[in-house]
Amino acid sequence: MADAHSTFMGNTKRKIFVHDVSMRDGLQIEPVFVPTQEKIALINALSRTGLAKIEATSFTSPKAIPALRDAEEVMKGIERAPNVTYACLAPNMRGAERALACGADEINLVMSASETHNLANTRMTREQSLSVLSQIIDEVAGRVAVNISISTAFGCPMEGRVPEEEVLKIGDALAARGADGITVCDTTGMANPRQVELLCEGLAQRWKGLELTLHFHNTRGMGLANVMAGLAVGIDRYDSSLAGLGGCPYAPGATGNICTEDLVHMLDSMGFETGIDLDRLIFCASQMPGLVQHDVPGQVMKAGKWDKRFPVPGDFEETRARALSRVGL
Ligand code: COA
Ligand code: ZN
Repeated sequence: MADAHSTFMGNTKRKIFVHDVSMRDGLQIEPVFVPTQEKIALINALSRTGLAKIEATSFTSPKAIPALRDAEEVMKGIERAPNVTYACLAPNMRGAERALACGADEINLVMSASETHNLANTRMTREQSLSVLSQIIDEVAGRVAVNISISTAFGCPMEGRVPEEEVLKIGDALAARGADGITVCDTTGMANPRQVELLCEGLAQRWKGLELTLHFHNTRGMGLANVMAGLAVGIDRYDSSLAGLGGCPYAPGATGNICTEDLVHMLDSMGFETGIDLDRLIFCASQMPGLVQHDVPGQVMKAGKWDKRFPVPGDFEETRARALSRVGL
């Protein structure tokens, strides 16, 4: 633990910001429609956990993402906590206008680093997306924060490796245009820690003044290892999803995001400052299997926190006495 401290945190407590995306990324792929009032209740409960940001919904075509067709009602129904940023995803101008009308604190615009996934997800070429996203930034600048999520930044399920230059090109263009934040996304869990280190080292300097976030999926079990790589190169913001739900319906093979409560548990136990009440978070996560009607990948909600203690076996004293007598003590 002392080593983790000195490697990642120096002498001061380092604050890490956790953004929960379960109500958007988590639910968008679910076949079950979670009732609007349940979504609102869960967002309200999440708002009391200390999370820095909650991505509450997305303003997409209801045909494309039926699970989130109640975006307006959700945004209008929630009770806003003062220190939480309520973000909403939008794929186009119409989505951005809808999010703005509902008082979103931040609009999360999305495009992919790979052409194939961008076409599948947004029905636009990357060039068209760059132009549309630039227009949206011009339109809403100063009224609401704009974050850009760059999907498939570490690999595309159709194209394979994605050159780093493609990610940098998109980020540079939209940072110059006035975006407030950039999220580098591993949409289908293809990233490995070495790759995270190589792509992300120096990104905060390159996009100075912008909020830089990493977004990992745990599709191949590398999610939290990738967070460690991000922490090592100085990145302090991470997207994650309650109970480990998540996935893009337009990315073949997509599965859950890294799990919010597992991430917070790891960060807390390493001594990082998250400002999050883990017990409340685990309680929120425990609602998920009922809401989506299946088991979920989250591990800490099943195993308990690292300091959970089990009773010693009933025959412990007898075992000790027998063990000691065997060595003649
Ligand atoms: N909100 C509500 N409806 C929208 C919309 C929006 N932001 N954008 C488009 N639509 C509707 C249109 O009104 C039209 O409806 P109709 O068929 O009833 O006439 C339909 O969607 C298609 O519109 P069009 O402008 O032709 O869009 P498109 O087909 O080129 O692209 C997208 C549609 C990209 C907007 C749609 O596929 C989408 O919402 N995708 C979601 C992507 C996503 O969220 N992925 C996961 C997150 S990474
Ligand atoms: Zn995602």
